[in-house]
Amino acid sequence: MKRLLVWSMIACGGFGQTIQVHGHRGARAMRPENTLPAFEYAIAQGVDALELDMAVTKDNVIVVSHDPVLEAPVCTGPREKAVIHELTLAEVREWDCGAKQNPSFPKQQAVPGTKMPTLEEVFALAPKGKFLFNIETKSFVDKPELTPPPEEFARMVLAAIRKHRLEARVVLQSFDFRTLIAMKKLAPQIKLSALYEGPAKDFVAIGKEAGAGIVSPAAKLVTAEQVKAAHAAGLEVLPWTVNTPEEWERLVNAGVDGIISDDPAALIAWLKAKGKR
Ligand code: G3P
Ligand code: CA
Repeated sequence: MKRLLVWSMIACGGFGQTIQVHGHRGARAMRPENTLPAFEYAIAQGVDALELDMAVTKDNVIVVSHDPVLEAPVCTGPREKAVIHELTLAEVREWDCGAKQNPSFPKQQAVPGTKMPTLEEVFALAPKGKFLFNIETKSFVDKPELTPPPEEFARMVLAAIRKHRLEARVVLQSFDFRTLIAMKKLAPQIKLSALYEGPAKDFVAIGKEAGAGIVSPAAKLVTAEQVKAAHAAGLEVLPWTVNTPEEWERLVNAGVDGIISDDPAALIAWLKAKGKR
């Protein structure tokens, strides 16, 4: 009977399984997304990784933004909207990216006066803990005018990683696999994560296409069979963006390696209550 219990726990991923907690855009449920207050909050909660998104200014500074365009409710400034890649860093810094609470996140605390951070400013938080940086190149095949070409984007990201000696603590993620393939050529030791959304697709095929060791699908695409096949191929599975206990339970039972959540503190508390952390 006891042996049966142990086997069933292993089979459903419930025994000795560790789940990495990635704070999505820092901790968007609680602080303005992709800002230093959000990252500092996430680190204080004990995340395993900070998830963030990157754009590049006109004067070639990598900044941390999900959207290539500045606009409410995330950032408010001198105009209704502006393209980051057409602004200098000084111009980007005229915008306030913490003034307004995002209405989609009622518990989010506004932090007025918060400027968009550079990637290097976020990297400077590294001494605060042992967490990873899961950093996404927001690069668009159909809108090349919004970013540097993929090879150039990867080269700039690598320069920042090397400057801060964070080679072992960075995962580069993207929906645009061109940036991942470029990074692999430049620095094969940097961990890569292939983001995927769309119709159901074989996780192993996604990982191969991107040359990545991590497959990061939209959560609804995760099944135990897909995770098992990915693990057999040596891949990790890291779904996004998951904010409810019901979905955490389903993903943990499917055997995922980590979960990207807007509310990492709640996920950590849930994992602890389940004896998984
Ligand atoms: O890292 C996964 C997730 O962040 C991808 O979606 O749109 O929030 O960047 P998005
Ligand atoms: Ca992202």
